[in-house]
Amino acid sequence: MYQVQLSACTSIRPSVMLKPRMVQQSREVVQKEQRRVDHRTRVPRNENLEKLRNGYLFPEIAMREAEHLQKYPNFKLINLGIGDTTEPIPDIITSSMVEQAQALSTLEGYRGYGPEHGNKALRKAIADVVYKGLKVKDTEVFVSDGAQCDISRLQLLLGSNVTIAVQDPSFPAYIYSGVIIGQAGEFQEETGKYWNIEYMKCGPQNNLFPNLLTTSRTDVIFFCSPNNPTGHAASRNQLEQLVEFARKNGSIIIYDSAYAAYISDDNSPRSIFEIPGAREVAIEVSSFSKFAGFTGVRLGWTVVPEELLFANGFPVIKDFNRIVYTCFNGASSIAQAGGLACLSPEGLMAIRQVIDYYKENAKILIDTFELLGLKAYGGKNAPYIWVHFPGSRSWDVFDEILEKTHVVTVPGRGFGPGGEEYVRVSAFGHREIILEASKRLKNLYR
Ligand SMILES: Cc1ncc(COP(=O)(O)O)c(C=O)c1O
Repeated sequence: MYQVQLSACTSIRPSVMLKPRMVQQSREVVQKEQRRVDHRTRVPRNENLEKLRNGYLFPEIAMREAEHLQKYPNFKLINLGIGDTTEPIPDIITSSMVEQAQALSTLEGYRGYGPEHGNKALRKAIADVVYKGLKVKDTEVFVSDGAQCDISRLQLLLGSNVTIAVQDPSFPAYIYSGVIIGQAGEFQEETGKYWNIEYMKCGPQNNLFPNLLTTSRTDVIFFCSPNNPTGHAASRNQLEQLVEFARKNGSIIIYDSAYAAYISDDNSPRSIFEIPGAREVAIEVSSFSKFAGFTGVRLGWTVVPEELLFANGFPVIKDFNRIVYTCFNGASSIAQAGGLACLSPEGLMAIRQVIDYYKENAKILIDTFELLGLKAYGGKNAPYIWVHFPGSRSWDVFDEILEKTHVVTVPGRGFGPGGEEYVRVSAFGHREIILEASKRLKNLYR
């Protein structure tokens, strides 16, 4: 239990002498503080949150990073860990946000709440531009404040009585939101997995795709392509298998396409709705974060097709609509103006240049690891490189790289037990930083 240490709080440096009345007063302040800290409510802690075993991966990395900085204050730390974008948002996009913000200062331009599902023009642009030719209707698009928030809202939609499957390794939000809503049992130390969650191993032995022959049926399948952390973009054939598997089992796929804009391989679909039969079994979650550098601006969307039905025949879209207007009041109108500009022909061209820049970074990093004789996956259709260190523990590799090169990566284990022996390296960064990281890594492993 957290307690205030009376002695520590009242200790005085020898040169600063307090008068007796002042000492008494400061004692009273500390005692009052202690009573405040000791007070407990009678509210039980949410037992699902109690089940969460580890702190969130990135705070743990941040802590080790802070310790490292304290130890080596004079070394320049390079962060290729947390996958945050680094390059400026093209002017054509920010200027439309500025214009929208300035309009709010005028009588004619001022608007309050907008529609919870997003502005009509943006919903239409997402349907027409992102899902061109795929028969996604604007009314099936729900604009949001980001994919991560939508993942949690989808969990609220599904509730605690469904079973879920996740790729192993996978973006941690699917599992953590599942645990918080009550879909999972206790964490099993021996396996590193939560009971009642199906972990679909996606190792190189099966082309970074789950072996569906050995995967148990679940109600919901979280699937991310291009995958964070492996950087693998599922092929058309793999996604056809996935849709077929979901149809056969009566499952719902929650397909996360947050990195779709990085796909250059013609054989990898950018949306699950490119696969025939997906509209009856899939929801797609996506984002402007890695597409347009909106990690701080906050804008995303979810597509729920009208054909998707629950077991009792009720349309999923109607329940999601209810969740959205109960738990969310709409994305910022300024962010939405930016989103609309992203999807204009000029916006798309400007964004393409930024994405190509990150992809060039990824190529530099892949070449570095390959030169060192390490097997590196991803990077071609995604901003992440998944590097294999056979026989090593991923936190040990993370610590060694940090200690010897002052480069922060992400230990694969943080993405699930299937991530052991791997680290994820992010290609988000200014070019000179990527080149410097490449130089340091070459010196370490050569
Ligand atoms: C696979 C995946 N989905 C969703 C997100 C979160 O996206 P947003 O910033 O839109 O919440 C991330 C962020 O890193 C991600 O990697």
